[in-house]
Amino acid sequence: MTTRAFNILGMCGSLRQGSYNRGLLRAAQEVAPPGVEVDIYEGLADIPPYNADVDAQGKPESVLRLNDAIRAADALLIASPEYNYNIPGFLKNAIDWVSRPAAETPLRFKPIALMGASTGIGATIRSQLALRQVFLYTESYVLLKPEVLAPRAADRFDEKGNLVDQPTRDIIRAQLEALVQWARRLRRAD
Ligand code: FNR
Repeated sequence: MTTRAFNILGMCGSLRQGSYNRGLLRAAQEVAPPGVEVDIYEGLADIPPYNADVDAQGKPESVLRLNDAIRAADALLIASPEYNYNIPGFLKNAIDWVSRPAAETPLRFKPIALMGASTGIGATIRSQLALRQVFLYTESYVLLKPEVLAPRAADRFDEKGNLVDQPTRDIIRAQLEALVQWARRLRRAD
């Protein structure tokens, strides 16, 4: 009997071409354990600003696509920079769209792991906490540990934006293993 792959949907909180955070997601694809697939979601930038009037008439196509992708995934992996000690606006906006209605959101009970790279020493600690707060409302299961925090990103990535720092690659692998184990445990507890 073959076991189905464990599908992780990666979401990047940066639109920057050479994004270090996107580099973290690419590294996750490379170090994922056997049977674990990481897809990086494209299309967050297409999502318009949240408007409850529009939502009441039907979600835009760009939001429905994200909704479906989240629902189909076994877990989410969010790699995001910190902007002014908080969540980048377009990422928060996308979460706001898919969080409504609260009783039907695909974020409910979804296992989620967080990663973050920053150029300074802050390492996205504050924005990861901010994301954890958001996911309290949505009742998502954000993995506790290990945390993936990549400060001074310029020292960890090569000129093409690929993660070359081995300890960071190792912690990403450990986080993926913990995420899969935890998601499976949650599923069994259903
Ligand atoms: C930043 N940066 C930043 N870094 C940090 O550690 N804490 C912060 O609060 C902020 N604030 C912030 C605001 C804005 C508007 C920008 C553009 C940048 C720096 C940030 O860590 C750096 O630009 C990263 O390289 C962004 O991640 P990507 O785009 O490389 O994934």
